Amino acid sequence: MEVLVTRHVFPQAIELLRPHALVDYHDASDGLPAAELQQRTHGKHALLCQLTDAISAEVMDAAGDQLKVIANVAVGYDNVDMATATQLGILVTNTPGVLTESTADLTFALLLAVARRVPEAERYLRDGRWQQWKIDMLCGHDVHARTLGIVGLGRIGQAVARRAAGFGMEVLYHSRNRQAADRERELGATAVSLDELLARSDFVSLHVPSTDETRYMIGAEQLAAMKETAFLINTARGAIVDEGALASALQEGQIAGAGLDVFENEPEVEPRLSKLSNVVLLPHVGSASIATRTRMCTMAAENIVAALGNQRPPNLVNPDALPAQP
Ligand code: GLV
Repeated sequence: MEVLVTRHVFPQAIELLRPHALVDYHDASDGLPAAELQQRTHGKHALLCQLTDAISAEVMDAAGDQLKVIANVAVGYDNVDMATATQLGILVTNTPGVLTESTADLTFALLLAVARRVPEAERYLRDGRWQQWKIDMLCGHDVHARTLGIVGLGRIGQAVARRAAGFGMEVLYHSRNRQAADRERELGATAVSLDELLARSDFVSLHVPSTDETRYMIGAEQLAAMKETAFLINTARGAIVDEGALASALQEGQIAGAGLDVFENEPEVEPRLSKLSNVVLLPHVGSASIATRTRMCTMAAENIVAALGNQRPPNLVNPDALPAQP
């Protein structure tokens, strides 16, 4: 059995794979160019890849019929052509659960940072501009007792709601699936329409996956529906927000600010955003704690080991790819 590891991972993942397969390890942070990715995939039984690798129909075709499993080191898998994988009977796995709390922590870090102007205040000090303390210096907005609107109340959205309780926030949510009443009570979260959420929230935080349905879910119209004093937080995927419309809304003062960990065309960032002081920009580090990123890598390796041993991988996202049971 042969596995392609498309880019650098925490070494524990490689150690897990080696007893089970020949590992072709592209141990570099730069991804393989498309043609080389196709060439290196040829003849492999498994791919261990990352959200920055576009796993297209061409890559799967180039692999050959023996390709059994694509293990993505991420909870999101919008970088994989899922329809083709499922049609070809290739199992796709992700790394859910393990990154929930880390991503919720980072969401709150962004929310606090933008509301209380933390990066801006730090730059002020480092730039030597702090000559005297002033009563109105770097005043921002409170977080406690404000209203948080969570769009997408899955695992990460719920973990954000739990943190909001500690800040005494009112929590509204809008989700494809309404939660059971006892879960809503436990989280202190009230289901509302997206329109109501946008109109009432002081912070709107996005936690939906990136799909055709969620693409540009937040565009000019939705931004115009938010309060002028509200902040948008995105730790999900860039494509959920129309980045150009967001930059215009911020420039025009339609909303108060934004905290962004994800972008439409990473690592590019809409240049207008980088010029605004009321925006906090992070390079997609939602799950980036050492423990979480290590576990994500080993989970992906475990999914491969299971699939190569003809077991159902623990984090299979396309069960339709499994052979039909007699
Ligand atoms: C990171 O963005 C992930 O999907 O895990």
